[in-house]
Amino acid sequence: MSDLNVDPGADNPEVTEGGELQDGAKDTRLPFEELARSTHTANVLDPTAEPVLEVDNLKMYFPLKSGGLFRRTVGHVQAVDGVSFQVPKGGALGLVGESGCGKSTTGRLITRLYKPTAGALRFGGIDMATVSNKEMKPLRREVQMIFQDPYTSLNPRQNVGAIVGAPLAVHKVVPKDKILGRVQELLEVVGLNPEHYNRYPNEFSGGQRQRIGIARALTLNPKLLVADEPVSALDVSIQAQVINLLQDLQREFDIAFLFIAHDLAVVRHFCPEVAVMYLGKIVEIADRESIYSHAHHPYTQALLSAVPDIKQATLGGRRERIRLEGDVPSPINPPSGCHFRTRCPLAQEICARVEPPLLQIGPRHKVACHFAGELGHHPAEPVTAPLLGVDRQGSPVGGATVGTVPTGPGYDDTWYDVKSKQMVSA
Ligand SMILES: Nc1ncnc2c1ncn2[C@@H]1O[C@H](COP(=O)(O)OP(=O)(O)OP(=O)(O)O)[C@@H](O)[C@H]1O
Ligand code: SF4
Ligand SMILES: [Mg+2]
Repeated sequence: MSDLNVDPGADNPEVTEGGELQDGAKDTRLPFEELARSTHTANVLDPTAEPVLEVDNLKMYFPLKSGGLFRRTVGHVQAVDGVSFQVPKGGALGLVGESGCGKSTTGRLITRLYKPTAGALRFGGIDMATVSNKEMKPLRREVQMIFQDPYTSLNPRQNVGAIVGAPLAVHKVVPKDKILGRVQELLEVVGLNPEHYNRYPNEFSGGQRQRIGIARALTLNPKLLVADEPVSALDVSIQAQVINLLQDLQREFDIAFLFIAHDLAVVRHFCPEVAVMYLGKIVEIADRESIYSHAHHPYTQALLSAVPDIKQATLGGRRERIRLEGDVPSPINPPSGCHFRTRCPLAQEICARVEPPLLQIGPRHKVACHFAGELGHHPAEPVTAPLLGVDRQGSPVGGATVGTVPTGPGYDDTWYDVKSKQMVSA
């Protein structure tokens, strides 16, 4: 763990310990990607790894209540609307999408801070979606969460020893007199001074506070960590250090990660697989190469075009940013058919009438788009029409054979080739 004790500003006297540039100073720091790459190679996919978690058609509909005395349910916020994915043992899946698309809700469902409306959360042979709170207690030790904001997620009135030691006391895994020793061990593991256990959160910088949050999440030796935007509140140079720390911890303790972020650059180094979410649904999920070099969904392509160092390499030299018109629609009343259609530059009639299934189009690549194709090579006819038994407008074709598209997590050995419109295998 070579870089754990690096002072964020040590290589640049114009950067404060908290990572901010001093007034009038020139920013000579390296971009995040380069910083992360300079000390750590990217995580690689182990296609043989068993899933530690299987999320199957997960839904969370928050009830919307009317005002007044009789608070009736008048609608639902469809925050998560049928997502399926796997997180491999010791691996890392990135979950990316714009604000409000349902990333945190997915994370909170997995840690059972919320009980799902529907769907399964298979972890170690148990469906966490349906167990009682009592049955969930031992599982809580195995699935922990790192929160987005290191400033609000730590209780300012507790010292670091109490914050990091709390899970040990609650779960009674260590005798009382051994808690401090374990806390100090954990502080050392995350690159903090173990003698600082009696300091309070406001005595630490943002990056250091996030390390405290990470130590707290590690306390019970989890098998799965849901990291909800763990670096987005931090300065770029500190982001890279915290990601490197997470990578060290992952390798040392064999922890699997669901890594939530709102841009594709942050997860590229850490996550060999990425799922892209839009308005409660996964629109594309694939291994790193397929997402960053062969994205087939217009939304993923737009997100990629916003990342300066990715766009040129992955979008065939095309430099201009794809700007999406309008705002993300409300999850209370999402658009019919494809949720993305109100902002999609390729939308046609079928997109409003038929929801595109999340179709497997490669060995480890699924996409939900009627006109799936690489940028500049989207087909003129809907690739999904023959499978769904509809014509190019989305109207049912009499006598057509309708295929079944698997909706569960993971990948099959055969998939639908969008160019030939035929099922193929490796
Ligand atoms: N407890 C709740 N009750 C009602 N609606 C909720 C609740 N929590 C989240 N939502 C709504 O669900 C949708 C998804 O929210 P969520 O926090 O999961 O998005 P997110 O992708 O994490 O966004 P961000 O990038 O801003 O963190 C939003 O429209 C949000 O307003
Ligand atoms: S299904 Fe239609 S609206 Fe949706 S992403 Fe594809 S082209 Fe755009
Ligand atoms: Mg969030």
